[in-house]
Amino acid sequence: MGGQPREHWQSKIGFVLATAGSAVGLGNIWRFPTAVGLNGGGAFVLLYLVLIFLVGIPLMIVELTLGRRSQRNVIGTFKVLKPGTPWWATGVLGVAAAFVILSFYSVIAGWSLAYIFKFVFGRFADVAPSAIQAQFDALTGDPVMPLLWHGLFMALTVGVVVSGVAKGIERWSRILMPVLLVLLIVLALRSMTLEGAREGVFWLLRPDFARLDVAAALGALGQVFFSLSLGMGAILTYGSYLSRGENIPGSAVYIALTDVAIAMLAALTIIPAVFAFGLDVEVGPPLIFITLPAVFQSMPLGNLFGSLFFILLSIAALTSAISLLEVVVAYFLDELGWKRAAAAVLGGSSIFLLGIPASLSRGIWSGVRLFGLTALDLADYVSSNILLPLGGLLTVVFLGWAWGTQRALREIRRDDTPFVLGGVWAFMVRWLAPLVMAYILISGLWNP
Ligand code: TRP
Repeated sequence: MGGQPREHWQSKIGFVLATAGSAVGLGNIWRFPTAVGLNGGGAFVLLYLVLIFLVGIPLMIVELTLGRRSQRNVIGTFKVLKPGTPWWATGVLGVAAAFVILSFYSVIAGWSLAYIFKFVFGRFADVAPSAIQAQFDALTGDPVMPLLWHGLFMALTVGVVVSGVAKGIERWSRILMPVLLVLLIVLALRSMTLEGAREGVFWLLRPDFARLDVAAALGALGQVFFSLSLGMGAILTYGSYLSRGENIPGSAVYIALTDVAIAMLAALTIIPAVFAFGLDVEVGPPLIFITLPAVFQSMPLGNLFGSLFFILLSIAALTSAISLLEVVVAYFLDELGWKRAAAAVLGGSSIFLLGIPASLSRGIWSGVRLFGLTALDLADYVSSNILLPLGGLLTVVFLGWAWGTQRALREIRRDDTPFVLGGVWAFMVRWLAPLVMAYILISGLWNP
């Protein structure tokens, strides 16, 4: 359907960087330190790492394989691989999740854009953490400004998706991701050497298993999905732009480890600073927007580094947002035969509108709550802790039991691509990963 020839990545490295670009984003730098703070530190980090290996990497291989085999969007993939069955509903869940996630993701990316300007104009010069908090509250409590930043961020996302993924993003990621990494290393070193920071490093690395209840386990699982962009077809869609010959398991391991390394660096930057400045680790989503300016103020050329950092964070968020919008656009393109530009503009505008409650949730709508959560926190909780794990569970069960691991292994090993641990992977996909996911999902939701 649609009749347009399918775009493909221009190079292997382009594919790996774009997929790593999807994975690395606010999930690593904003969401991971926040989740670690809310869930008690070391034990959460440990469980997170275990789940990356038990669930994250196997599922990344699953999504890439399904996408490359079908050469279709997330809904089309299930239709093509198992025609005449209701499996395509898994894809519908994925497209719905893309809408919800991007709607609040763009609001937070908008705060990051606003922070670039605050640093460029030196707004944070010599202020105490309490004053930084006040500035953050003023920014996010305003009804209009955050909406404009959210709109600007969505416009940028639409702009890149309209021009096709292959060109700009492949080139940008290659230069900017290494710069972000270097800057994070510098920042982590500064933060860990602050007076009183050691306690934070210990808190992060010493597991306190008493804090690890089922809610924290569900949080760790949700974080694995969110950070690796899994469970709703973003990685599957990127896999569908692969031509044959790419080493899928090798790329998946490489991408996942890059993602974990960046999340750990972000936590090692933010948590020690929280302890050094005597802030509260459990503040939730505002955490990085309060601690990071304080770290920058404690170093020479703080405003310069601050501007640079939030520019890079915004770009990292953009390369992730693109993959979310691309899930929606690929569906409109393949299944409904729309033009790319029309699909991107219409999808982007609807997502902008859907994000308005999240944008107002720290201001005039802060009293509008469901289960005690604001619109932003609710959208985040429902998508990461319910929609993604559920989508991921259905996807592994689909590959493991409906489509079949033998077919999958044949697809992965095409053109003599080696996959030494193929048997282990097949076992994980059929048994281990679904059982772990189902167990955490059910027990976590049972016990709110
Ligand atoms: N992984 C990205 C991040 O860490 C966000 C993201 C992009 C995402 N695509 C996704 C999250 C798909 C869930 C599903 O910032």
